Amino acid sequence: MSNPVIEAIMTTRAIRRFTAEPVTNEEISTCLAAAQQAPSGGNVQPQQYLVLTDPEAKTAVAHWYARAYDRYERSLPEATEFRDESARASWERTRNASRHLADHLADTPAIVLFLQPIIPWAPADAEGPMDIGRLDASVYPAVQNFCLAARSLGIGTAVTTVIRIYTAEVLAALGVPEGRFEIAALVPMGRPRGSFGVAPRKPSTKVTHFNQWGNRP
Ligand SMILES: Cc1cc2nc3c(=O)[nH]c(=O)nc-3n(C[C@H](O)[C@H](O)[C@H](O)COP(=O)(O)O)c2cc1C
Repeated sequence: MSNPVIEAIMTTRAIRRFTAEPVTNEEISTCLAAAQQAPSGGNVQPQQYLVLTDPEAKTAVAHWYARAYDRYERSLPEATEFRDESARASWERTRNASRHLADHLADTPAIVLFLQPIIPWAPADAEGPMDIGRLDASVYPAVQNFCLAARSLGIGTAVTTVIRIYTAEVLAALGVPEGRFEIAALVPMGRPRGSFGVAPRKPSTKVTHFNQWGNRP
C-alpha cells in the first residue's frame, strides 16, 4: 500500500551532501510549522529552534562539529566483518558521507539546532520519582516531522548529535543563555546532491512480536 505520505516517509534518509542552492525562508518556516505540530508529553512542547543561515554562525558551529566528529570517528572500532557485500558498501557510504558533512557543514544552506531546556521533568509522589520517559522523547518527534516536511519539499536533511560533545562551546558562540539548554539534534538542510531513495533497513517482521514475545507475524 502506498500514498504520498508513506512514499515521503520511505524515501526520507540521511542526506549529507548538498547543492549550493539556498533554502528559502518560506521552506524553513513550513518545516518548522510541521515540527511544531509534533506530539510531546503533556503537550509541553519543550523545544526551541535555532536556525542558522548566516555564514558566520554556520562557520562557528561547523568548527565545533568538525572537532566533535574527528573525536567520534577516531573512537570508532575498525569494522571488519559484514553480513555481506551490500552491508559493507552501506557502511562505507555512511562513513564517507558522514566525513563529508563534517568537512563541509559550513557550506550547508541552512542548519537547524533543536534545543531542549534543562528542566526537572520526572514527576514525584510519596513513592518517589516516576519514570514517564525522558524529555528528549518529546523533542525527537519534532525533529522527524521537520525532516519529513523537508523531504516533501525536495529538501534533504540528516539528524545528527555528535555536536553534543561541544554543547557549551556551540551555545556560547550563538548567544544561548548558559546552562539552560542542551542540543537534542543538529539538522543540516539543503537540496540533495544525490537522490532520495529507500535506505536499507531490517524488515519490520524480524523485530515484531504479536501478543507474546516470540510470536512472529
Ligand atoms: C540520534 C541520531 C544521531 C545521529 N548522529 C549523527 C551524527 O552525529 N553525524 C552523522 O553524520 N549522522 C548522524 N546520524 C545519522 C545516521 O547515521 C543515519 O540516520 C543512519 O545511518 C541511517 O541513514 P540512512 O537513512 O541514510 O540509511 C544520526 C541519526 C540519529 C537518529
